[in-house]
Amino acid sequence: MGLDERVVDVGDHVDDGVPHAHDGVLRVGHLVSRSKDGRGYPVRSDALTSAGGPVTAPNPTAATGEADRYRLPRTVVPSHYDLVLEPDLGAATFTGTVAIDVEVVEPVDEIVLNALDLEIDRATLVGPNGTRLAGSVTYDADTERALIDIEDAAAPGRWRLELSFRGELNDKLVGFYRSTYVDEDGATQTLAVSQMESTHARRAFPCFDEPDFKATFAVTLVVADGLTALSNAAEIADEPTDDGRRRVRFATTMKMSTYLVAFVVGPLEVTEAVTTRGGVPIRVAHPRGKGHLAPYALDAAVFCLDFFADWFDIPYPGDKLDLVAVPDFAFGAMENLGCVTFREVLLLIDPESATQPELERLVDVVAHELAHMWFGDLVTMGWWEGIWLNEAFATFMEMLATDAYRPEWQRWVSFGLSRTAAFDVDALAATRPIEFPVISPEDAEGMFDLLTYEKGAAVLRMLEQYLGPDTFRDGIRRYISTHQYGNTVTTDLWDAIEESSGEPVRRIMDSWIYQGGFPAVGVDLEQDRHVVRLTQRRFQALDPKGSEPDATEWSVPVTLRVGRGDESTVERVLLEGDTTTVDLDRPADWVHVNVDGAGFYRVRYSPAAREALLAHRGQLAAIERYGLVDDAWAAVLADELDAPSFLALVRELAADEDDLSVWQRIAGGLGALDRLVPAPAREAWTATVRALARPALDRIGWEPAAAEDERHRQLRGTLVSLLGTVGADDEVVARSRALHDRHLAGEKGLDPALVAAAIEVVAGSGTAEDFDAFAGRVRAASTPQEEVRYTYALADFPGAEELDRLLAMTLTDEIRTQNGAFVLRRALLNRENGPQAWAFVQSHWSEISERLPSMSMVRMVEGVRALSTPELAAQVEAFFAEHPLPQATKTLAQHLEAMRVNVGVREREADRIAAAVTD
Ligand code: BES
Ligand code: ZN
Repeated sequence: MGLDERVVDVGDHVDDGVPHAHDGVLRVGHLVSRSKDGRGYPVRSDALTSAGGPVTAPNPTAATGEADRYRLPRTVVPSHYDLVLEPDLGAATFTGTVAIDVEVVEPVDEIVLNALDLEIDRATLVGPNGTRLAGSVTYDADTERALIDIEDAAAPGRWRLELSFRGELNDKLVGFYRSTYVDEDGATQTLAVSQMESTHARRAFPCFDEPDFKATFAVTLVVADGLTALSNAAEIADEPTDDGRRRVRFATTMKMSTYLVAFVVGPLEVTEAVTTRGGVPIRVAHPRGKGHLAPYALDAAVFCLDFFADWFDIPYPGDKLDLVAVPDFAFGAMENLGCVTFREVLLLIDPESATQPELERLVDVVAHELAHMWFGDLVTMGWWEGIWLNEAFATFMEMLATDAYRPEWQRWVSFGLSRTAAFDVDALAATRPIEFPVISPEDAEGMFDLLTYEKGAAVLRMLEQYLGPDTFRDGIRRYISTHQYGNTVTTDLWDAIEESSGEPVRRIMDSWIYQGGFPAVGVDLEQDRHVVRLTQRRFQALDPKGSEPDATEWSVPVTLRVGRGDESTVERVLLEGDTTTVDLDRPADWVHVNVDGAGFYRVRYSPAAREALLAHRGQLAAIERYGLVDDAWAAVLADELDAPSFLALVRELAADEDDLSVWQRIAGGLGALDRLVPAPAREAWTATVRALARPALDRIGWEPAAAEDERHRQLRGTLVSLLGTVGADDEVVARSRALHDRHLAGEKGLDPALVAAAIEVVAGSGTAEDFDAFAGRVRAASTPQEEVRYTYALADFPGAEELDRLLAMTLTDEIRTQNGAFVLRRALLNRENGPQAWAFVQSHWSEISERLPSMSMVRMVEGVRALSTPELAAQVEAFFAEHPLPQATKTLAQHLEAMRVNVGVREREADRIAAAVTD
């Protein structure tokens, strides 16, 4: 995630491109932990350097002591939890009791389970015939466990472990935490909300907090009168207590993992239920007064739930579905069975004033979490190294469902942008294999990154396109029905797809899952264009301080479009080893490799092949033209193409381009170059950008046409934003300001894409007065989207004083802690004042780390990629040598490498680009 991009579409043009750092040594040889049946395997050390020969799934081995340290013994196995929680919102505390039905497998005198920041007041083990064994509790904070010493050994058989406990509602947005909002009357309202994934259920109640200890849960919440209480299952009773509170009881859930348990208590309103075709009632719970923003998500959710029930051919596994908008939320959304939680901006929306990307994002997120109800909740990875399976698959399904919901959005074209983000990380030496060892809770946190989500989804897309969508779906159906209510390892998925397809799925996929990186496929036309020669070589961005790419090879499902005149045919070949040839029955005029951009590889054409292709680019699909720009920019980062040549290509393509995603990619490349241009060449540079993009804007005109499709509308926004910021186009700036004034004056019916673009343009040239207006608008925003747009735009102001004001705000309640990291990230990317933001981050490091959610710290650090002078980069490296991020070691190394790559690009290209534009 890359959750950063996922949570917050910052929409800036900065694509500082491809990173590359070199801590070099992946932790090969470490063990992943065992799945329930004892399987488990080391990541092969040769998987990272293999030259030739298929990569296979590693062999089972025993776990090491290090891995055992964090794993609970399997001597006591839970099957059911009766859980009662009594949150006191005013005091920010809670008390609870839990009775856990367990099977004692062998005689034990101690029970070990997880608990963190909890006081367990009483522990009793109750036997079948009423035997009561008292337990005394000690804690091991290091491994987040409670050890319950039982007065007498417990014999094998069924027992019930009864515990009462206390804790605090924290403000770190994990476990059972406190969230607040200011209601329409200006009063502060408080909620208690849970966020258990990955390993935070242990902060809410003592439990066997590992994904393969599945159990059923019967939850009861005792709450103050007037509050809404929600949990995973349907409410079955709501009774007054003696002291004037209410006891709300929920039905027993299906068998599921602890990380999916949810509680929400607070002053929320709940919409009427809408029922799906499959009979599932869906509601949205939201802060008071926001019900009018719920219908859009409800409609999408109803669609998605039916879509998935059909696609998986299994009914929704819960008994109801609540979608909850939570004011303070660490991530984007969370797939708790039956009680999915969201950031407000990803659930509550006004379709009249939202942009197409904002709507698309919301549908994506709803679809993603609902896909998890099957893939993740019903069938769950055995241990956290398998989290990629959960997240990659949900990300893939999110695009499939969004594409079905709104075909006009062309979701498989905008997919290109997220694939680019994955390529960028994966082109670094510090990348990692998609599946990667996880031992500690911190390791688990570190797994939620772009490689898990976006590369994972992209390689699944590659497989789906290779096998054909129906064959792929049949394999998934087989996998889900075989493993429902259970846990799996990655190879279970390949086995299921292999059985339904008869294809060597394991062999192909192992090369993508157990090895980091990806190939560049070389393309040459030989023998009078009768033969296409394909080669592969690992693709890597150039870190001036790093090393050469290794000889890793992949099983690459290559697709080629072979063109003759106006016609073309598609050929397929599995490229294994370093080269292969494709014989054509007739000579080709041109070939394009990577049909529909479905393959996770870059393409390098020989000069002749490239020239022939460009002459026929009118015959390429949008995602394929996207690939041409994207591959070219990557080549700049790898020092295989110089920036002037990139610019020349973009000029040529821009002349007749009208696709939104392709333009977004062009804008990304220009934004990156914009940061390199030396001051004396600035005028000439902005003139170049205007000459390149202005004709496109003039072609589509300023005024949205009535029947215009949404992507076209959004293209206007992208062009205005590009011209108004990077292009410094006076007319565009003036028109944007005028439009923004009308927006501030409350005019309705303005085109959302233009309003959003105008906000960016005004910020980019904003004054102190504008800053005040923006900050006021954050407070008075009428939708979550408007609040987000203005919040992040505050970081784009060019003035040093404005930036100082914003930086100070990030340490106060003016910027919610959930947004702090993203605001700081964007401030680091501020073109004029990034170094000032860096100075602030450095000097306030401990305050910032105290305040922001742990997992978001690394999102902030992503902004250092833009600090691409040798001096700043040296400072940054020195700082992080002293201030590591244990929850994101790998991602931090990647950001640092990306920064070094950018230092190299600046050194190579700054003068070249200046010369090219001033000629
Ligand atoms: N399971 C995740 C939420 C999560 C992320 C929990 C990291 C713990 C650690 C959820 O399904 C998810 O992927 N959420 C995304 C949004 C989604 C649409 C991509 C997120 O939170 O960014
Ligand atoms: Zn997910």
